[in-house]
Amino acid sequence: MACSCFPEDRPAARGGERYNFAAGPAMLPPTVLAQIQDELPNWQGSGLSVLEQPFTGAPFKDLMQQAEQDLRALLALPPNYRVLFLHGGASCQFALLPLNLLAPGQSADYLESGHWASKAIAEARRHTPLNIIASGRDNGFTALPEPGEWRLDPRAGYCHVTSNETANGLQLQHFPAIQAPLVADMTSDFLTRPLPVERFGLIYASAQKNLGVAGLCLLIVRDDLLGPPRAGLPSPFSYALQAEQQSRLCTPPTFALYCAALMLRWIGQQGGLAAMARAGRAKSQLLYRAVDASGFYHCRQRVADRSTVNVCFQLRDARLLPQFLAEAQRAGLYHLQGHGAVGGVRASLYNAMPLAGVERLLGFMHDFERRHG
Ligand SMILES: Cc1ncc(COP(=O)(O)O)c(C=O)c1O
Repeated sequence: MACSCFPEDRPAARGGERYNFAAGPAMLPPTVLAQIQDELPNWQGSGLSVLEQPFTGAPFKDLMQQAEQDLRALLALPPNYRVLFLHGGASCQFALLPLNLLAPGQSADYLESGHWASKAIAEARRHTPLNIIASGRDNGFTALPEPGEWRLDPRAGYCHVTSNETANGLQLQHFPAIQAPLVADMTSDFLTRPLPVERFGLIYASAQKNLGVAGLCLLIVRDDLLGPPRAGLPSPFSYALQAEQQSRLCTPPTFALYCAALMLRWIGQQGGLAAMARAGRAKSQLLYRAVDASGFYHCRQRVADRSTVNVCFQLRDARLLPQFLAEAQRAGLYHLQGHGAVGGVRASLYNAMPLAGVERLLGFMHDFERRHG
């Protein structure tokens, strides 16, 4: 019986191009996928797969060191920031941030900007009192509150923002300099643009969108925030203890780390973060312009807050959505369905999505509109 994940008529099987617009795990650059495939049985002439490498051996330690160096070069990371390669995804950090950064009873500020910020807030609330500095809930998370409207608590241990709301298609364009350490969930737009790193106390991102495959969470933290963890926090979840042990307090997610190392190298080869940002603007503007010019599709997000990585839009006749998605998949355009909480269409244009993928999508959208408009 055919598996529904791999339909028989999948264009790739017939030799056609395919583009994966999934919000994550996301598309990988074909050259990176080919390298993984090529060297999987025999990594660096070791006679063993990278999957079988001891994480304490010199070759794997070198890989970790090189990945960190490449990341530092891409971000121009100042020396007082540490890089951690952790298990568990961004969702784990939702709980671990207050447990690592706050004293018991100390509160934190949170910006409620959309689906993922709401998740971060709900989890943090289980561990600490917190203050919502501003919310987009009243506008259905179609626009972000202006930084001038943030009601910051001067006693907050940190201020948490979600730099890109993956489900809602909203992205913070600027990061204000504030007094409390700024903590950002950058899971969906990490390494898609240059960053004023020194404005942040901590940045974290799951890897499966712009940095390879699932299983790894990358965390960048300023030295002075690595204080003693709360009593009772298990050691592998302590940022300070992981930093002391160069992220080897327990076995790190080695395969995901290897993929991240390849992605970091690939981003550098493409011209680094400025090049990623230029490409992201070009791809997303092409799509937003077409949607705005059409009476058939429409985008609810405020123009100034629109995401360059998750372009969300609706079909004016929502009854056509299942047909749109099914025909798109047959045309080799995969996983365009919007997030369950939002609906509609979502085209995720992470670093690995080429302009050609967006052009193919536009061609399909025009054709669909011509036939159904
Ligand atoms: C902005 C954001 N934060 C957090 C997460 C959760 O990541 P994970 O499932 O790796 O914990 C996601 C996943 O899509 C996300 O987009």
